[in-house]
Amino acid sequence: MKVKLQRRYLVLVALLVMIAAVATACAPDPNELIISPQLGEQMAARAAGQQIVRAEPTPLPLLSSLTPEQIVAGLPEDVIAAMANADLAHAEQLALSNGCIGCHALDPAMQMTGPTWYNIGNTAVGRVPGESPGLYLYHSIANPGLYSVPNYPAGVMPATYVDTLSTQDMADLVAYLLAQTQGQ
Ligand code: HEC
Repeated sequence: MKVKLQRRYLVLVALLVMIAAVATACAPDPNELIISPQLGEQMAARAAGQQIVRAEPTPLPLLSSLTPEQIVAGLPEDVIAAMANADLAHAEQLALSNGCIGCHALDPAMQMTGPTWYNIGNTAVGRVPGESPGLYLYHSIANPGLYSVPNYPAGVMPATYVDTLSTQDMADLVAYLLAQTQGQ
C-alpha cells in the first residue's frame, strides 16, 4: 500500500515536471531572432551577449494621409481624368455583371476565392512598396498576374478585364475600391 502511494506520488511529480518543461519550451523567447531588417543588429547584439531590442513594426500609412496626387500616382492620364467623373454606383453594377462579387465580398467575415474588399482602399496603400494605391488597384484588375496577394491562389482571377472594360469602367472600379476604407 505504502509503495503504491509513493509510486503515484512519483508519477505525479514526473507529470508536473513534464508540464513545466512543455510550458517553458512554448513560452516566447525574447532573445529569439526573426528575419527582419533588424536581424543584422540583433545578431551582433546576441553575439555580444546583450539583450536584443525588438523594433515594433512600422504601422502602414492610411489612404487619408496621402494627397490626391499621391493616391493616383503612376496611373495613365486618361484613367486619372476619368476618375474625376467616377460613377461609384456604376462600379457596383460592373462588379456584379463582371462576376467580381463571385470571388470578392465587402464583408470580411465571408470566405471567398479572392481577398475581401473590406477596407481595400487602405490595404492598397501598403501592398506593393513604391506603388500608389490607385495604380496598385488598377494593376490588380488589368494585370492580376503582376502581384499575387499572399495566401490566395495566383492565376485564378481572370486576366481579360483589361480587354473588356473601358477606361471609364476601370476608373469607376478603382475609385470605388479606393472608397472602401471601412477600417478607418
Ligand atoms: C474567379 C475569381 C475572381 C474574380 C471573378 C475576380 N477576382 Fe479579383 N482576385 C481573385 C483572387 C484569387 C485574388 C488574389 C490573388 C491575386 O492577387 O491574383 C484577387 C485579387 C484582386 C484584387 C487585389 C486585392 C488585394 O487585397 O490586394 C483586386 C483589387 C481585385 N481582385 C479586383 C477584382 C475586380 C474589380 C474584379 C471584377 C472586375 C475581380 N477582382 C474579379 C479572384 C477573382
